[in-house]
Amino acid sequence: MTGFSVDWLNSREAADQEARDSELLHSAVAFASTSTEGDAQSVIVDLGAGTGSTYRAFDGVNTSIACPLTWRLIDNDRALLEEAARRAHKDHLIETYELDLNRVDELPLGEARLITASAFFDLVSGSFIDRLISAVNQSNSGKPLGFYATLNYDGSTCWDPIHPLDQVVLGAFNSDQVTEKGFGTALGPGACDYLQQVLEHAGFSIKLADSPWRLEGKDSRLVAELIQGIGSAVRSSPEISAEDIAVWLEFRLSHVAFGSCSVGHTDLLAIRE
Ligand SMILES: C[S@@+](CC[C@H](N)C(=O)[O-])C[C@H]1O[C@@H](n2cnc3c(N)ncnc32)[C@H](O)[C@@H]1O
Repeated sequence: MTGFSVDWLNSREAADQEARDSELLHSAVAFASTSTEGDAQSVIVDLGAGTGSTYRAFDGVNTSIACPLTWRLIDNDRALLEEAARRAHKDHLIETYELDLNRVDELPLGEARLITASAFFDLVSGSFIDRLISAVNQSNSGKPLGFYATLNYDGSTCWDPIHPLDQVVLGAFNSDQVTEKGFGTALGPGACDYLQQVLEHAGFSIKLADSPWRLEGKDSRLVAELIQGIGSAVRSSPEISAEDIAVWLEFRLSHVAFGSCSVGHTDLLAIRE
């Protein structure tokens, strides 16, 4: 969980696909695949695309496509983009862009009908969102535009069975979530609220839905990675001692096959007609 390896993204993908709010997903696919007059294709720009989890989520939706979809996958990790291209269905129009998203003026946003991102916005700062939406507005020629941002961590994690240290570990983890993640001070659990405000101000209508991970024994590999990731994130926290982290880790890792866990996320769909 410390980096964004193919292995980590693979191990979370099934939980992510199950967690996405189905109604918002269907609405996003329907919006993207309805052509506007004169468009031969519908362009979707996926920010922080990783190995392409979002286009696979779209593939899972059974709907008639009036307009072929072209996916522009953007990431700064070449290995992830290569994996995304390797796994793409041969009928898909996939373009990969190895780019640092901080360089918002260089993003291939032209003609975009839908901008997507999953498990990404909690990494970024408010000033990144401001610059991104300003670049999106500049590149948009007044045609309908959608913004679909899913799996934004909301700061809640509940465990069963509970442990007396759960809340102090969660507090320390959430403090780490609002540190620098490559885009200035990260918004962490506040990202979805901030994104909503900025998009509303830019004239979008917003829909939100909960999309929690609900993990149990069958997800034990992912849960173990999540626990280790939390342990790493809080290791140098002043909010919890090393001894308490060790006690919590031992308890949590001994329950991965029997316990359960829920991690809160929010999905957002914004449309401007
Ligand atoms: C948590 S992963 C999510 C990946 C994918 N969207 C998914 O849901 O599986 C975050 C992604 O953002 C990418 N990323 C992080 N910082 C970036 C940056 N500065 N520029 C471009 N991509 C970045 C990472 O390489 C990674 O693929």
